Amino acid sequence: MTQFAHDSVLPDKQSSLSKKEQVENMFNNISGTYDFLNKFLSLGIDRRWRKKALMQLASLKPHALLDVATGTGDMAIQAVKLLHPISVTGIDLSEKMLELGKQKVKKEGFNNQIELLKGDSETILFSQNSFDAVTVAFGVRNFEHLEQGLSEIYRVLKPGGKLVVLEFSKPTSWLIKPFYFTYLKLFCPLAGRFFSKDKTAYQYLNQSINKFPEGKNFTRILDHLGFKNSYLIKLSLGICTIYCGEK
Ligand SMILES: C[S@@+](CC[C@H](N)C(=O)[O-])C[C@H]1O[C@@H](n2cnc3c(N)ncnc32)[C@H](O)[C@@H]1O
Repeated sequence: MTQFAHDSVLPDKQSSLSKKEQVENMFNNISGTYDFLNKFLSLGIDRRWRKKALMQLASLKPHALLDVATGTGDMAIQAVKLLHPISVTGIDLSEKMLELGKQKVKKEGFNNQIELLKGDSETILFSQNSFDAVTVAFGVRNFEHLEQGLSEIYRVLKPGGKLVVLEFSKPTSWLIKPFYFTYLKLFCPLAGRFFSKDKTAYQYLNQSINKFPEGKNFTRILDHLGFKNSYLIKLSLGICTIYCGEK
């Protein structure tokens, strides 16, 4: 399946577990502090990034939306608020992230619109042409087999449906690069270790961002898998990027 050279970074290189098992364990471990650290480390900007990503679907007015790697459900919840679809299905490997997501969905009163299920992006348990739109926020970087996950998403999208991916990327400006890399390499792992008590998760964040096939490399993968009209939008001086493609 892999046509494009890109390294898949492991949370723990010493472990004999597969990347998928390691990622599942890691998110189960950090689930309790995930939402807090997201907001703390991004200074709350993640909310604006998610909104901008979801607005790429505004003109499509999707009825059935799939949020892959939904985690604690932030994207699914914002999708209901902004796009008013009939249903949002969120899938994720991590039971503990989903458990917190279910509590948030209930609290928001969205039990009738949002269903969160355990599921793997690389073998999506829905038939082809099921969804008008698919979103993945900060998830594709964690896939064990990136192209397998993306081709599964393509399969479950309806013809004319749209994929929106939100993912970290490296800033392009020389002015902010030194600050950003200090922040990512030193501050995030320290804060992550302090709050989540997980030594590796926030080192993995830095390493996986560094190795991710970002920018045009990512849209080339989408094109290769059959997505049409792919495009990207850089956010916040390039530290985050929205990628889109249609079936
Ligand atoms: C950084 S979190 C992002 C969660 C959420 N989308 C958000 O925006 O906060 C990454 C999530 O991807 C999930 N994940 C990683 N690989 C996956 C896969 N193959 N299938 C489903 N979920 C996966 C992890 O369990 C984790 O919850």
